[in-house]
Amino acid sequence: MKVIRSIPEMRSLALRWQQQGHSIGFVPTMGALHEGHQALVQRARRENDFVVVSIFVNPLQFGPKEDFERYPRTGAADQKILKKANVDIVFMPSAHDMYPERFTTLIDVPALSQVLCGPFRPGHFRGVATVVAKLFEIVRPTRAYFGQKDYQQVRIISRMVEDLQMPVRIVACPTVREADGLARSSRNRYLSRKEREEAVKLYQALYLGRELVDRRIMTQSDRLIHRLRGVLGTIPKGRIDYVAVADPITLEPMKSIKLPALLAAAVWIGKTRLIDNILIS
Ligand code: PAJ
Repeated sequence: MKVIRSIPEMRSLALRWQQQGHSIGFVPTMGALHEGHQALVQRARRENDFVVVSIFVNPLQFGPKEDFERYPRTGAADQKILKKANVDIVFMPSAHDMYPERFTTLIDVPALSQVLCGPFRPGHFRGVATVVAKLFEIVRPTRAYFGQKDYQQVRIISRMVEDLQMPVRIVACPTVREADGLARSSRNRYLSRKEREEAVKLYQALYLGRELVDRRIMTQSDRLIHRLRGVLGTIPKGRIDYVAVADPITLEPMKSIKLPALLAAAVWIGKTRLIDNILIS
């Protein structure tokens, strides 16, 4: 496994692989790797000749009051995990190389960015789309792997790839969860023991929502959302950003529930913001 920090070096290696007809599997991450990331890496390993994993805590996707400074950086542990997973290249560019002084070009996917997490994190998805486009241009992946845990993110990246006709296949992978159902996330490390216990209510609420829809007990989104808000409302020091029922393709809110439907929520527990979703089909 090789660690590459230089953009030109990464670019020329990827170009060479491409010219030799090899497939490249790419997993973009911000590090603090856990089993969710590892599942993406394993799948990329199975399906491609070469695997590149990027670790870059992208300043462009954090708002001024968000956790960029405090985001966990666990470089040594990450490299150990990736080496064991048989990754070929860990690409770790610097923020200065990715965003040189007069950098100004942004990629925006407005329709899909204005719903769900969008209003609560202005500029976030623009930062994600911009960095992923840059990384794709450098790494030239055949396939790129994303987690459904960040459902809106995968939709936005898929739309961008379609609109810009980028020659890459986006592979969406299922959410990896802890034993009690909590979705694995780098941000789970922020939770105190007590908060961690409460955090499972996010999954429990979504799970209940799926039951109520599957058993046709609830057919109207507003009633369902009210019910799930009730569950999430019992989290001490909790604050709900949103609970939503949305069309899985357009992400537009749904009034009367028709399948497939995306059930998604974001809650604050103390100083930690958690998101999760379930696709009901
Ligand atoms: P990060 O949060 O590190 O996540 C990297 C990838 O891992 C994303 O595609 C995310 O959806 C996936 N992932 C995270 N938790 C998961 C889980 N529990 N199960 C399955 N997949 C999971 O998402 C980002 O970084 C950034 O926005 C990035 C795309 C790298 C752009 O900066």
